[in-house]
Amino acid sequence: MSRIAFVNGKYISHATAYVHVEDRGYQFADGVYEVSAVWKGKIIDENLHFQRLKRSLQELSISMPMPINALKIISREIIRRNRITDGILYLQISRGVAPREHEFPKQSDQSVVMTARPIDWPEDLKSTGEEVITVDDIRWKRRDIKSISLLPNILAKQKAAAVNAYESWLIDEEGLITEGSSSNAWIVDDQNRIITRDLSENILGGVTRLTLIRLASENGLEVIERPFSISEAKNASEAFLTSTTSFIKGVRSIDGKTIRNGAVGPITAKLHKLYIQHCQTFETN
Ligand code: PDD
Repeated sequence: MSRIAFVNGKYISHATAYVHVEDRGYQFADGVYEVSAVWKGKIIDENLHFQRLKRSLQELSISMPMPINALKIISREIIRRNRITDGILYLQISRGVAPREHEFPKQSDQSVVMTARPIDWPEDLKSTGEEVITVDDIRWKRRDIKSISLLPNILAKQKAAAVNAYESWLIDEEGLITEGSSSNAWIVDDQNRIITRDLSENILGGVTRLTLIRLASENGLEVIERPFSISEAKNASEAFLTSTTSFIKGVRSIDGKTIRNGAVGPITAKLHKLYIQHCQTFETN
C-alpha cells in the first residue's frame, strides 16, 4: 500500500509530497511541528498536542491555518488513508512560501503538512534501560516552542548514536540538565521522589511529561519539578526519559556511570504501567 501525505489542502502520494523551495520552513526553519502517538487508532493526548501547537504558533506570530477541528478531521483522514492502527502522526506548519527575506512576509499562506507511519509501540518496558550521554545544551533560549529548527538537537542525538547510546541529556551553563535531545529527563531520589525540570523557556513542555505528572500524582507518587545536576542524576536511585515516541524508557547509565546496577527501578516500572493504562483507556473526543 502506498503512503499518503496531506500537503496544503490535498491528499497526495507520499513519494511525491513536496513543499516549495521558497517555503520559509525549508529556508529558515520558520515553523512548528507536533508528533503524536496513534495507539489502536486513537490519537493519544490529542487535545494536549493541539494546545501546544496553538501556543507554539502564537509565540511565533504564525496564524492558525484552520480551526483545530479541521486539523482533527485531517488527522483522522491521514490515519485512515494510511491504514494506521499503531503509529506516529506528524504535523508541520510553516509560515508559508514567500521570497527569501528575513522579516515576515506581508502575506503568505501557512504550509500545512501531515504524514503518518506505522510503528510497534513498546508495551513492555525493557528491564535493562538505555544508555545516555551528556552534552552541552547549545540551543536557543525558547525551547518551549516546538520549532522545526532542530539542528542542536540532531547534533546531540548524533553524538549519542556515535557511541551507541540512546539519548543525549543536555547540560546548561550551570551544569544542570535541561532535557534530552528529543525527550524529557527524569530522576528518582532515595525517597522515591520523582524529579523533572520545571517548565520554563528552558525546556519543551512534553505532553508525555504533563500526562505522567498527572498520573503520578493521582497514584500517590510525589513529583518535584526542579532542575537537577549531572552528578545528582548520576547518583540517582532511578533515571528515565519520556517522549511521545519513546513512552517511558529506563536509563541504565549516564556517561558510563551505572544507575541502580543497570536495572530499571520500581518507580520507572510503575510509571510505565500507568502510562500504558492511560493509552489503553484513553478516549478521543
Ligand atoms: N520530541 N523535549 C524535546 C526536545 C523533544 O523534542 C520532545 C519530543 C520532548 C518530549 O515531548 P513529548 O512528550 O510531547 O513528545 C521533550 C518528538 C517526539 C520528536 O521530535 O520526534
